[in-house]
Amino acid sequence: MRAQTVLVTGAGSGLGRLLALGAAQRNVAHVVVWDINEQAASKVVDAIQAYGIDASYDVVDLADDESVDAAGEAVRQRLGGIDFLINNAGIVTGKRFLEQSHDDVERTFQINTLALYRVTRQFLPSMLANNFGSVTVIASAASLTGVARQTDYAASKWAAHGFTESLRAEMRHYGHRIHTLSVHPFYVDTGMFDGASSPNVLLPILQPEAVVHKIFRALESGKRQLILPSSAVVANWLKLLPVPVADQVNDLLGINSTMDHFTGRTAAVES
Ligand SMILES: NC(=O)c1ccc[n+]([C@@H]2O[C@H](COP(=O)([O-])OP(=O)(O)OC[C@H]3O[C@@H](n4cnc5c(N)ncnc54)[C@H](O)[C@@H]3O)[C@@H](O)[C@H]2O)c1
Repeated sequence: MRAQTVLVTGAGSGLGRLLALGAAQRNVAHVVVWDINEQAASKVVDAIQAYGIDASYDVVDLADDESVDAAGEAVRQRLGGIDFLINNAGIVTGKRFLEQSHDDVERTFQINTLALYRVTRQFLPSMLANNFGSVTVIASAASLTGVARQTDYAASKWAAHGFTESLRAEMRHYGHRIHTLSVHPFYVDTGMFDGASSPNVLLPILQPEAVVHKIFRALESGKRQLILPSSAVVANWLKLLPVPVADQVNDLLGINSTMDHFTGRTAAVES
């Protein structure tokens, strides 16, 4: 990734922060940090600059067209374009279906799904002009299966998965050398899914540093899909079974109970 520009959305905390710092440690030319939280974003930029790497931030509400358009224009003015775009930002309510307000559902889709269109639209044109670039989407293992208390979140991540699969197909179909990577982690210990539990030894709660390390390995090797841990691929295999049997196996594996004690973030964001 040497001498490239990288932009990470939701880079003020959690995986996004580590992705931005990880890009800097790989000696890229410039890291752009996008987040709605200015204080968190500016601290990440300070940390990157301490490595001697150029970095900048924009305060962006990914749910807002005008905000994303303005920040996209600002980045194009500063840098011309972006080589590695990492669509990372996401939110979760963890509510049961009837507890979700329509606003909850809409906000989840705005940030987890519709922002992918808004943001990618800003930077794909220059990637196409250079016939070089990479678009990563941090989806979720929830985009491979359904889970209680995730009717909003899982659906938004299934859509994110469909977006990335179709973008990859479109790039291939029209001969564009733009790489795409979809990432499907099980729960990660960032605070976002506090209270969610590991159902069995095959599906442990992941450490964010390990997840980010594997994302960079995937980017560097040109991998197109990353499921973490790899045992979560079982969600794909279950689709080969009749649905009632798959549901029973899913329940036996404990996957459908993992959100029973979800609280969501309770501590302040690390920055
Ligand atoms: N943590 C997990 O267990 C887990 C598991 C699978 C997938 N993921 C996905 O990984 C990604 C990162 O998750 P995380 O755990 O690091 O989350 P996080 O909550 O730690 O960080 C999310 C970041 O996105 C920013 N953000 C939220 N709304 C925004 C908006 N409207 N505009 C701009 N920025 C906004 C927040 O300020 C925050 O800095 C998300 O897409 C999430 O769905 C997380």
